[in-house]
Amino acid sequence: MIEIIPMQFEHIDAVAKIEADSNIIAWSKKSLLDDFNKDYSIYFVAVENGVVFGYCGMYHIIDEGHITNIVVECEHRNMGIGSKFMQKLIEIAIYRKIVALTLEVRISNIIAQKLYTKFGFKIEGFRKNYYSDTHEDAIIMWKYF
Ligand SMILES: CC(C)(COP(=O)(O)OP(=O)(O)OC[C@H]1O[C@@H](n2cnc3c(N)ncnc32)[C@H](O)[C@@H]1OP(=O)(O)O)[C@@H](O)C(=O)NCCC(=O)NCCS
Repeated sequence: MIEIIPMQFEHIDAVAKIEADSNIIAWSKKSLLDDFNKDYSIYFVAVENGVVFGYCGMYHIIDEGHITNIVVECEHRNMGIGSKFMQKLIEIAIYRKIVALTLEVRISNIIAQKLYTKFGFKIEGFRKNYYSDTHEDAIIMWKYF
């Protein structure tokens, strides 16, 4: 059974590969490692028998959570792993008394938007030309507790 567990240093290589296979502007291993080591970062991985199927990251700053990334390995999407990550992040947010969660998502990324809407996120604004590769706008979503 796939479990969502806190990311450890030993998972970084697998996470960097999933990131490189999934995103045009991928976080490098060094960027991931730097971010993972920040004291306000919270990272989880989805694993089964030691194999990593995805990861998610969130910043906890004051009383807000900023979800920075959530990526599932291509061949294992639409199997509920993204939903498991969202459940875990929401559980952690409630435990830490975070009052709201936010994230940015590409206007074209309908599947990710469906995931966030499913967990109660609502569109609150837009950032023009947010993505440097396509100059696509970002949708800003928030979930308030
Ligand atoms: C977005 C992403 C994390 C979703 O992860 P996932 O494991 O596929 O998500 P789930 O299987 O839990 O599906 C969650 C919801 O997304 C929607 N969804 C997932 N796959 C879908 C598909 N192929 N077509 C339509 N809707 C889909 C559904 O609404 C689903 O909820 P439901 O099954 O209850 O109807 C995954 O697609 C991914 O890694 N994408 C590339 C990276 C990315 O875009 N990250 C987000 C950056 S903001």
